[in-house]
Amino acid sequence: MSAKTRVGVLVSGRGSNLQALIDAAKAPHYPAEIVLVISNVPGVQGLARAEAAGIATRAIDHKGFPNREEFETALHETLTAAHVELLCNAGFMRLLTEGFVNRWLNRHLNIHPSLLPAFKGLNTHARVLESGARLSGCTVHFVRAAMDDGPIVAQAAVPVVAGDTEDTLAARVLAAEHRLYPHALHLVASGEAQVEGELVAEKPGSESRSALFSPPLKGTV
Ligand code: GRF
Repeated sequence: MSAKTRVGVLVSGRGSNLQALIDAAKAPHYPAEIVLVISNVPGVQGLARAEAAGIATRAIDHKGFPNREEFETALHETLTAAHVELLCNAGFMRLLTEGFVNRWLNRHLNIHPSLLPAFKGLNTHARVLESGARLSGCTVHFVRAAMDDGPIVAQAAVPVVAGDTEDTLAARVLAAEHRLYPHALHLVASGEAQVEGELVAEKPGSESRSALFSPPLKGTV
């Protein structure tokens, strides 16, 4: 059996996506293992989740550094000391400089709660509701220096339904995130999905032929 990809996860808070990755990685044939979880905010639930799973943790508080570069140097050195091969942002709320992004180029994933390239940035769900969009969802993509930008690995769509509030839509999207991120990490860690140019190429045979319609089509599907 080939060795599992050593994954580091960056969090800033609740860590429910981290939990989904931890749970998925327990499967014997999952191609990645989480070896380190780093938070830029001390004391968050994400760190407690990792500790409960017996995973090494570090709090590297960005406030303790004079500038972004020195914070990122500490981050990078901690990741390389743990022999991390692939990095996953999971609710990590710091923008990273081009220098750090380039050091982890094509070895660094992020999850964003919209169907990118629509609705980049913060307050996603409120803006989706204001726009009148009928579908929202989530995206796992490789990280680039521009926020919520980079080659898309996988997406899941969810309907926006009548009466939705930010909270109800966020909960529906989050449930999809918890299924999507383990799937996307599997694709990348196994080598089934990789960056070619500025797109992600998937090995043939893994395409899904179904589509999600919202509102549903009547009588035709
Ligand atoms: C998720 O919605 C993720 O897409 C966004 O921040 C949220 C983090 O939630 N980037 P959690 O910390 O994984 O529970």
